[in-house]
Order: sequence, then C-alpha cells, then structure tokens
Amino acid sequence: MPATIRPYEARDFPAIHKLDLACFVPGISYSKWTLQHFLDLDSSDCLIAEEGKQLAGFILAESNPPLAHIITLDIAAAHRRKGVGSALLREMEQHFAYHGVLSVLLETAVDNGSAVAFWGRHGYSAEAVLKRYYLGSVDAYEMRKRLGSGK
Ligand SMILES: CC(C)(COP(=O)(O)OP(=O)(O)OC[C@H]1O[C@@H](n2cnc3c(N)ncnc32)[C@H](O)[C@@H]1OP(=O)(O)O)[C@@H](O)C(=O)NCCC(=O)NCCS
Repeated sequence: MPATIRPYEARDFPAIHKLDLACFVPGISYSKWTLQHFLDLDSSDCLIAEEGKQLAGFILAESNPPLAHIITLDIAAAHRRKGVGSALLREMEQHFAYHGVLSVLLETAVDNGSAVAFWGRHGYSAEAVLKRYYLGSVDAYEMRKRLGSGK
C-alpha cells in the first residue's frame, strides 16, 4: 500500500515522539519539550506519512525564505527503502519552493551512512563538518541543496 502524505495534526504528537526515540539515540532524539517547541514555531512545517492508519514517517522543517532548515526526517524501520522518505522530502521541497525558499540546510551525523546516502541521492551536498555537533563527540555534515538549480 503506498504511503499517504498529509499535514501534521496535534493528535500525531505521541506517535511522532515515539518514532523519533526509535530513530535516534538519547541525546540526539528530541525531548517532548523540544519537539513541541519546533512544532509550535510559526515558521515550522510538518508532514506525516501513513500506511493505513499506521505512522510510516514524518518530516519536520522550518522555513524562513530564502532559507529553510530540515529539523528531522524519521522513517519507521519497517517502512524504510520503500520511497517514503523520498515522498515526504519531495512534498516538503514543494512547500519550500512555494514559499520562496532557495536554499535548504540540514545536519546529519557523519556516521549515519543511510542518511548521508539518502541526502546525497536527493541533491544535498556536504558543505562543512561541524565538529562534535552531536552529544559533544559525534561530527555532523552541514548539507545544502539549492532549489531550482538541480544541485
Ligand atoms: C535516512 C532515511 C530517512 C531514509 O528514508 P527511506 O524512506 O528509507 O528512504 P527512501 O526509500 O526514500 O530511499 C531513497 C534513496 O536513498 C538512499 N538510501 C536510503 N536508505 C539507504 C541505506 N540504508 N543505504 C544506502 N542508501 C540508502 C538510496 O539511494 C535510496 O534509493 P534506492 O532504495 O532506490 O536505492 C531513513 O533510513 C531513516 O529514517 N533513518 C533513521 C533516521 C535518520 O537517520 N534520519 C535522517 C536524519 S538527518
């Protein structure tokens, strides 16, 4: 069954928080407070992917044109490598373009091979290494995509 993508609703909060805890180790996953803080920003945008009634994934971003920042993209383990992350990202990039975003930034741990491959596949390039960005010890890539340039 293909995933359906829809806007986040407040009732999704417990499930997305649980998924974030499953996707990232403590200290990289968000606390309830931090996740709610991002969702409450006027500039935030969050999309949900579901298969049937099951949460398959979500993407959370902040858009301050001409820049946007992807805060997180979380796909449940059972739903990976089925195009769900790509579908959420494509939809979010359409929102960005509609709002006049030209450049999208995100951070990902240098040792998160699947994420680095995923972002590369979608045209995001590492621009810098942020030393000890996660947990005070794990380096991160700062990755960027310029929308509309194909790069
Ligand atoms: C990274 C992540 C978001 C990818 O989501 P996904 O729905 O599985 O990705 P897709 O199925 O859309 O994959 C698209 C392409 O990305 C690349 N890719 C995705 N996962 C990969 C993996 N584990 N290894 C290598 N390449 C991978 C491939 O090129 C893939 O295309 P293909 O399946 O035709 O080879 C998902 O693995 C995830 O949620 N991981 C845990 C949380 C996380 O690290 N999020 C990113 C935070 S920055």
